[in-house]
Formats: sequence, C-alpha cells, structure tokens
Amino acid sequence: MEFFIDTGDIEEIKEASKWGIVDGVTTNPSLIAKTGRSQHDVIHDIVKLIDGPISAEVLSTDKDGMLKEAASLSEIHPNVVIKLPLTIDGLAACKELSEKKIKTNVTLCFSVNQALIAAKAGATYISPFIGRLDDVGHDGMGLIEEIRTVYDNYGYQTKILAASIRHATHVRDAAIVGSDVGTMPYKVLKSLYGHPLTEKGLDQFLKDAGLQ
Ligand code: E4P
Repeated sequence: MEFFIDTGDIEEIKEASKWGIVDGVTTNPSLIAKTGRSQHDVIHDIVKLIDGPISAEVLSTDKDGMLKEAASLSEIHPNVVIKLPLTIDGLAACKELSEKKIKTNVTLCFSVNQALIAAKAGATYISPFIGRLDDVGHDGMGLIEEIRTVYDNYGYQTKILAASIRHATHVRDAAIVGSDVGTMPYKVLKSLYGHPLTEKGLDQFLKDAGLQ
C-alpha cells in the first residue's frame, strides 16, 4: 500500500519525508488556503521534498479552464498529478489528459458509479472520501471495498486512493480491503507508529540492558 501525506504544510512534509514511508502528497484548495501561499509556490516546494506523485487541484469548473490549469501545473514538475472534481467537465478533462499520458486524481468521489465512470475516463487515481461519508452516517470503508470489487471485475487500472482518512483504524481497514493508496494528515501518519506495548517493551529492554 502506498502512503501519501494530505497537507500543504511544508514543515510537516519535511519532517514526514525523513521517516522513509511517504510515497506522495495530496493537496486540495482548502489545504493550500491554510498555507496563505499560492498553489504554484507550495507545489514548487513540495516537489523538491518528495520524489513521488504530488496532487494539485484545479479550481476551474469548466473543461477548458481545467485543461489550461492542468497545463500550467504540469509544467512545475513531471511528478505533478492533476486533481479534478468528479463532474461531467472534470471527467471530460480527465479523458483528454489521460490520452496525453498526464496523470490525474479524480476527487470528491462518494459512490461506486462515480468511481466506475472515473475509471472509464482513464483516471490514474480515484479518491473516495471515507471520513466525509462516515460523517453523514454512510459507510466510507464499504465504498472502498465495493470499488475494489468493481475495478477487479473489469480489470480497471485506476488506483484507489482512500482519502479523507481521519484515524489509524481507517488506514488499517483500507489496507485490509485492498485500497492501493491511503492519503492521510500528518498526525494520522505519525499515529501509525504508536503502540503502548512497543513503548513498554522498549523501556524494559533498555532497563535490562542497564541503559535506563
Ligand atoms: C484528499 O485528497 C483530500 O484532500 C482530503 O483527504 C480530504 O479530507 P477531509 O475530508 O479531512 O477534508
């Protein structure tokens, strides 16, 4: 399973990149807005820190505008993945970009049918938002599982990118149901290391070795 960090915070990316488990980065307009900087500047910095897919989202809602933004974002670095909303225009843009071999991440997916049409449009990644589905009483992880089944039924190569991950249990469950990627905030990524028995066991080993 690949791990992406879901942030625009350069300090978080710098720190997490040292751990050796971060394969890529996702951003969205809300995360970029939190930085107080332009998307171009933030993405310029991120590509220097992580050698992997970096999702940058378009703000246009019409296909031509999306394609224009995609061209400008793609110029930043070959690792930039164009993030497009799951709309008619978004998927039409996705189709054109996929024909040009430009990588795409189709975002704001909340149903199996949406994931199916994104795969048909040639999306590189589909981002089902599990936390936001759970928030409204739906089954976010169930959606990942269903998309896995449908993609496997037809051999679609679109990667399932479990998004809107809120806690470590989401990561565990997404891995169990076969999500290709999980994107998560810095604090969730860090929480994956923790287990009280690891800390307790290490304390004991250090004591027994006379080091504590
Ligand atoms: C993913 O690409 C999105 O940026 C993100 O996971 C959304 O998460 P949220 O629902 O916590 O805002």
